[in-house]
Amino acid sequence: MSPDKVAVLTGGGDCPGLNAVIRGIVRSAVMVHGWSVLGIEDGFDGLVQSPRVRPLGLEDVRGILPRGGTILGTSNRGNPFAYPVEVNGAIELQDVSQHVMDNFNELGVTALIAIGGDGTLKIADQLAEKGLKVIGVPKTIDNDLSATDVTFGYHSAVAVVTEALDRLHTTAESHQRVIVVEVMGRDAGWIALESGIAGSADVILVPEIPYRIDALCRTIQARRERGSRFSIVVVAEGAAPAGGGQTVQASAEENLGVARLGGVGHHVAQQLEKCLAMETRVVVLGHIQRGGSPSHTDRLLGTRFGVKAMELVAAGDWRKMVSLQGTRVVSVSLSEAVGKLNLVDPHGELVGVAESLGIGMGR
Ligand code: F6P
Repeated sequence: MSPDKVAVLTGGGDCPGLNAVIRGIVRSAVMVHGWSVLGIEDGFDGLVQSPRVRPLGLEDVRGILPRGGTILGTSNRGNPFAYPVEVNGAIELQDVSQHVMDNFNELGVTALIAIGGDGTLKIADQLAEKGLKVIGVPKTIDNDLSATDVTFGYHSAVAVVTEALDRLHTTAESHQRVIVVEVMGRDAGWIALESGIAGSADVILVPEIPYRIDALCRTIQARRERGSRFSIVVVAEGAAPAGGGQTVQASAEENLGVARLGGVGHHVAQQLEKCLAMETRVVVLGHIQRGGSPSHTDRLLGTRFGVKAMELVAAGDWRKMVSLQGTRVVSVSLSEAVGKLNLVDPHGELVGVAESLGIGMGR
């Protein structure tokens, strides 16, 4: 009899630690549960048209633990419930979910492990409604999923930003400049907040706290009066001024359903130059935060999530998401996990710590 087979895909933006999950799934599937694994390429996109799949054996995951990205490829534009299709020269969003289900059913696998952020996990849950046996594994550098204490990828991103802030300090100080550092964080400002505290920023702007330019200027001016001739401002890409909206490079309509953020760093810098008369520079860290080798923490969490996901598959415990709660990896209901974001509490302990250190939060 051929062994049971499970499929795995990675969806949404990539992040460090995805390969650790894939490796954890494949090794425990083969070595503990006697299952075989099929990789689906490029997220749910790989199930539209003729499926793009490949078997994943022990030799396919050898040496991938320190590698960033995902060996399976990913896509953050492949929502089968709103799939972009060209009709008469124009892009239309169509529901191709039944087609995806039919393609999946022809693969001869028992279940799917979907590794992704809120968008991917929502799709997985919607496909479960259509009968898909699915397990979710949460990832995102933004750490904005509420049903797990932390997502893998986040720790590596914070480490990259913290190192960048250390480097920017020396040049900002030498030139007596304000350096505005734009970091990722669409809805949640965790990367900005934690790297800002760890990297000794002077101002941190997060999406959860609308900022006021006059408040930023006061913080920097007060530093000058205390003798500090430079400042570092960390701004999450999703931060917005009080009474204003986020800065977008492309609207959701122009960008297949998801707005592309970016530019708030330049906007803040221009305004600061006006009120401070200090030379200002902008650094946009962008996808550097998502690339490269995972930290040891993310390798470990990704591995634990992969092993747990395979355990749930072998037990037939469907429509669950693996989750870190305290020190334990557990499972939670997928439907309950999706759609609830983990946001920075504007009055929480961490913001309190930042403000106690004199870091301006722009309010
Ligand atoms: O979801 C993580 C994230 O890093 C967001 O902070 C950011 O807005 C988005 O991905 C950018 O994704 P991409 O440029 O790959 O479309």
